[in-house]
Parts: sequence; C-alpha cells; structure tokens
Amino acid sequence: MMAKRNVVESYIDGFDHALGGGIPAENIVIIHGSAGTMKSSLCFNILYNEILSGKKGVYISIEQSSLSLLRQVVSLGFDISKINIEVLNDANDVIKGLSRLKSGDPNKLTLIDFGSIRKELRKKVKGKVKNEYEFGPGMITSILTMAQTLVQKDLCDIIIIDSLTALYSLTKMEDPRSDIFYLFEYLRDLGISAFIISEESADNSYTRLDIESYLADGIIHLQLTERNRKVTREISVIKMRSTSCNNDIFTLEFDGKKFKALYGGKIPLV
Ligand SMILES: Nc1ncnc2c1ncn2[C@@H]1O[C@H](COP(=O)(O)OP(=O)(O)OP(=O)(O)O)[C@@H](O)[C@H]1O
Ligand SMILES: [Mg+2]
Repeated sequence: MMAKRNVVESYIDGFDHALGGGIPAENIVIIHGSAGTMKSSLCFNILYNEILSGKKGVYISIEQSSLSLLRQVVSLGFDISKINIEVLNDANDVIKGLSRLKSGDPNKLTLIDFGSIRKELRKKVKGKVKNEYEFGPGMITSILTMAQTLVQKDLCDIIIIDSLTALYSLTKMEDPRSDIFYLFEYLRDLGISAFIISEESADNSYTRLDIESYLADGIIHLQLTERNRKVTREISVIKMRSTSCNNDIFTLEFDGKKFKALYGGKIPLV
C-alpha cells in the first residue's frame, strides 16, 4: 500500500474522499459554523479517534467548561474511559507551566479548560482590576507557550482550539492580521495538526471569516439548512490546500455511533 498515513482522517463516513483522502497532516484547518452545528463534537471526534490510533491530543476550550464539553460527548456515546484524559482547570497549572504533566503519556488527551480557569481568576481578584495572571493581549502567547511545552513533552500531535471567536473577544488585538498570522505560523512551526473552531454569526455567514480564511490551510463549513420547515445539518469543504477536494455540500448525520456525510439530498434544492 502507498504511504497514506500523512493525513488526519475526518472520521466522518463518506467525507474523506471529499477531502481528497483526508486532511493533510500538519495543516491548520478552520471548522466554521453557527451555534449548535456540532463544531466541538466533530473536533472531539477527530481527536478521540486519533488518540485511539496512538496519537496525542490537546483540546483548548476557551469558553465551554470541560465538564460541559465532556457531558456533550458522553451524551453522543463516546466512551471516554478508553482514553486518558487530563483536565487542566486550575490557574496554577497554567502558571506553573504544565509542570505536572508526564511526558509521553500514551492515549493522552490534555484538556485545557480556560473557561474554569478564567472564572477562578475572577473570583480571586474580587473586584480588583488586576489579575494575577493576565489573559489580555497575552492570551495568544500563553496558548502558544502551552502548545510548545506540550509538544516538547510529546503530548501533542493534534490540537483543537475552541474557539478563535472567543479568543478574539478576549484579546484586544491591535493588529489582528499579524496576531493571527503569528498564531498560525507558530502552530505550523510546531509541526502539529491544528483544528481551529470559528463561530459564524447568524446574520452573515462569512463576516468573521476574513483574515483567518486566507491564513488557514483548510476550511470546513458546518451549517443548518432549512427546507420546508425541516432543518438539516450540512458539511462542506471550502478549501483544503494540497488536495483536490470536492466542494459539494453533504448532509451531516450522527447516527448514535458515527458521523456520516451523505451525498445528495432527497429533496431538490429549488
Ligand atoms: N445524540 C446527540 N447528543 C447530544 N447532542 C446532540 C446529539 N445529536 C445532535 N446533537 C446536537 O449537538 C449540538 C451540540 O454540539 P456541539 O456542542 O458540538 O456544537 P457546537 O457547534 O460546538 O455548539 P456551540 O456553538 O454551542 O459551541 C446540540 O445542538 C445538540 O442538539
Ligand atoms: Mg462548541
């Protein structure tokens, strides 16, 4: 067989061929979609399956708590006891530079819960403006420092950042183009595959996807489409560098075990 392991599978039945065989490893891919389109679940699904196949994964959740994320994936039927999950939800973990993590732990998912960390910091400050750990403009840098440490500890082949939109709202970027360029290039230099979730605003699908759409290697779009009062989940590849991808829109289904991309709808699009 040809050397084929240089891709990350989507773990969506029927979708890898649309991606030209899978997502090229070490690509930076944006998962773009509106609220509730299963962005987080889909990314978790990739991470979970890659971890089962021997990779190590990191999930950085900026807003959703680890508890809520895990509850969601358990309700989808993921057996999280099969992987070794370490949740970092204590500000000290971050301040001490992830020192308690053991290098090279197998089947490891490191889940960094910034939602809880931020809440904890807020409680500590009690009305005073000064945080003991600043998540202002330094947030991107602290995420990248963490990613670098995790790579050095052989704990990160794939990283999910959930979400870029939350990162935007927390960091007052003076020059978003150069900050996002820095984020993407740094991740690229680390040689890891990155999935970055981006939230679509309800009014205009592509307003938030501007700078990052040019800087990312790939974009996968998730949407809810209404036809005759019935709403369908849909998925498409907007771009994927270095593959000849199919940009058609697939119906996305979750059958209680697996995600599936179905080609062609039963109802004509008129
Ligand atoms: N079997 C299921 N169990 C739980 N949730 C399901 C299931 N099937 C579909 N869902 C839907 O998944 C959605 C939540 O998934 P997820 O949190 O991954 O979405 P998201 O796009 O990340 O959402 P958000 O915009 O809130 O971040 C909900 O809208 C829920 O209704
Ligand atoms: Mg989400």
